[in-house]
Amino acid sequence: MKRILVTGGAGFIGSHLVDALLAQGHEVLCLDNFFTGNKANIAQHLDNPRFELVRHDVVEPILLEVDHIYNLACPASPVHYQYNPVKTVKTNVMGTLNMLGLAKRVKARILQASTSEVYGDPQEHPQREEYWGHVNPIGLRSCYDEGKRLAETLMMDYHRSNGVDIRIVRIFNTYGPRMALDDGRVVSNFAVQALKGEPITIYGQGTQTRSFCYVSDLVAGLMAMMEAQDITGPLNLGNPSEFTMLALAQKILELTGSASRIAHQPLPPDDPVQRRPDISKAQKLLDWNPKVSLEQGLAPTLDYFRKVIRGG
Ligand SMILES: NC(=O)c1ccc[n+]([C@@H]2O[C@H](COP(=O)([O-])OP(=O)(O)OC[C@H]3O[C@@H](n4cnc5c(N)ncnc54)[C@H](O)[C@@H]3O)[C@@H](O)[C@H]2O)c1
Repeated sequence: MKRILVTGGAGFIGSHLVDALLAQGHEVLCLDNFFTGNKANIAQHLDNPRFELVRHDVVEPILLEVDHIYNLACPASPVHYQYNPVKTVKTNVMGTLNMLGLAKRVKARILQASTSEVYGDPQEHPQREEYWGHVNPIGLRSCYDEGKRLAETLMMDYHRSNGVDIRIVRIFNTYGPRMALDDGRVVSNFAVQALKGEPITIYGQGTQTRSFCYVSDLVAGLMAMMEAQDITGPLNLGNPSEFTMLALAQKILELTGSASRIAHQPLPPDDPVQRRPDISKAQKLLDWNPKVSLEQGLAPTLDYFRKVIRGG
């Protein structure tokens, strides 16, 4: 059994990862500054002697004795990462630097949660790991996109120069229970609007596509990558099934039985028209495949949103 640090462990993906690592019998240190994380996401573990909660900001160095580090600390949705863009850059750059320094010092293996956003508004479909991306360096999303790109650079340079054992995964849209209701992302937006009977906002015509990975599939991929031997990545993790925004809205309307209507609004700047992972590398190297269909994953997600909206 290992001592495992999960930064951003009180967040959406991090808390599901914490659940899965504890279920495997590991000791877990959950580090979070609670910017977008929530104590309720990890409250079920507070009495577990194998669980420790550390309130800390990754922008500041920390010394901990651990075997593995999952570096997930970073707000993931545009409303949150644009709230304080300079802080987002610091979290990605100084946070990753601090975690790499720690990994080097205690000889821990470190996995960096990167993102499909490193591909920007891609000119290749689907996106393979070899594609270098098409990213605006001065736009509103740049603090996140470029921050994550620089985090990847730091990972590779610590690996090449200092022999740090690294793993990079590029996560594509992930959804599931414990997503923040106010994160402005499409699944939470549509779900909350449908459940409240408000109009469902679609930007543009709704023909832009996204792929959605259920959180348990993503967590299985993160853990498989951490356990794999001799792979640095980057590896794409996501679900390649593509849906238009219109199709997603219709599926959510159907599953909630909502009478909400669809309202079209102008497209925001830098909004990618299509995004779909090529996961053939992860399939081959990790023997990993997403298993949960959109319909199967939406049911528990909508239950969660329903509960939160009712204040339960
Ligand atoms: N959810 C997705 O679809 C998605 C897609 C691509 C990449 N990712 C990446 O996965 C990771 C987790 O995303 P998520 O969806 O769970 O987001 P989230 O916002 O729910 O979780 C991020 C967590 O990091 C914490 N955090 C933020 N800044 C911090 C700091 N400076 N110090 C310590 N903790 C800090 C937050 O409080 C939160 O608990 C992020 O790195 C994100 O970029 C997520």
